Amino acid sequence: MNLVKYIERLPKAELHLHIEGSFEPELMFRIAERNNIQLKFRSVESLREAYHFTQLQDFLDLYYAGTSVLIYEQDFYDLTWDYLIKAKANNIVHTEIMFDPQAHTTRGVPFETVIKGICRALNDGKEKLGISSELIMSFLRHLSEEDAFKTLEESLPYREMITAVGLDSSERGNPPEKFGRVFAKAREYGFFTVAHAGEEGPPENIWGALDLLNVSRIDHGNSSMLDNKLIEKLIERQIPLTICPLSNLRLKVVNDLSSHPLKTMLHKGLRVTVNSDDPAYFGGYINDNFVAIASALSLSKEEIGQLVQNSFHASFLPESTRQKYLHLLDDFINLEIR
Ligand code: ADE
Ligand code: ZN
Repeated sequence: MNLVKYIERLPKAELHLHIEGSFEPELMFRIAERNNIQLKFRSVESLREAYHFTQLQDFLDLYYAGTSVLIYEQDFYDLTWDYLIKAKANNIVHTEIMFDPQAHTTRGVPFETVIKGICRALNDGKEKLGISSELIMSFLRHLSEEDAFKTLEESLPYREMITAVGLDSSERGNPPEKFGRVFAKAREYGFFTVAHAGEEGPPENIWGALDLLNVSRIDHGNSSMLDNKLIEKLIERQIPLTICPLSNLRLKVVNDLSSHPLKTMLHKGLRVTVNSDDPAYFGGYINDNFVAIASALSLSKEEIGQLVQNSFHASFLPESTRQKYLHLLDDFINLEIR
């Protein structure tokens, strides 16, 4: 089996996916029309042409503008279902998706509308597509601590639907310590914690996410490579890093994929995983990410298998389900390369 087919057929887990970042222009225009909202762009093509970013903030401006058409529960259902169909086509058997409630509640859309639409689709994903999932509620770090606390309280009636809290949006100028108290409260409520760190920001933000936010994994974590002590700690604690190759390329975190640190990270013993982040904006879903990075770094089938195995180990799955998936994966790899 050639490498592309091998990647396509591997049963995979995705751990770093913003549901709002899976909003394809076609669906965005369809929902805008039915909700009588005028987008700033005249067509799907002109919107896609705007997807040229020189840094994270360029992307975030378009990403938040795109969310403005999402008003009703059905809109959030359609957004999530659209991703799940893509996930199925990519042979994703388990996904942990992030959502940004504040991108909607700040526009007057009730928290309940957002979460009910997303969760109805996730339940259908389990029943009709056989995809298991966990939900991660991310706080927007460019907003205040007070706003994050308010969002945390709003989420409590839906506590059972949410596995973890996270931290995303503009990393520069918004270090993890801004949210130390919110994350402490979230842990008291029993949420796991994750955070974007070391995407555009320095290794200090990764230290902060570990020491102050007590995260069980780091989203991105690219700048860890600048700090040997940090690398040692991440290896020793086997803290997963959710790496997003095409996102890193499109947001200029790396100049080209051949200079991406993923392979070096893997060989050092870091628990790295491959994910798509915001696939509608960055030109590819999880298989595209694997194919692009495997080609740029000449990854072997063994290395790709290890990356996929890492994702299941790094997931929030209950142990019995994790083992079930790991066996499924092992069987596939054994058949293919051993
Ligand atoms: N929100 C959606 N995608 C993001 C990214 N790559 N970094 C920070 N915040 C985000
Ligand atoms: Zn992200």
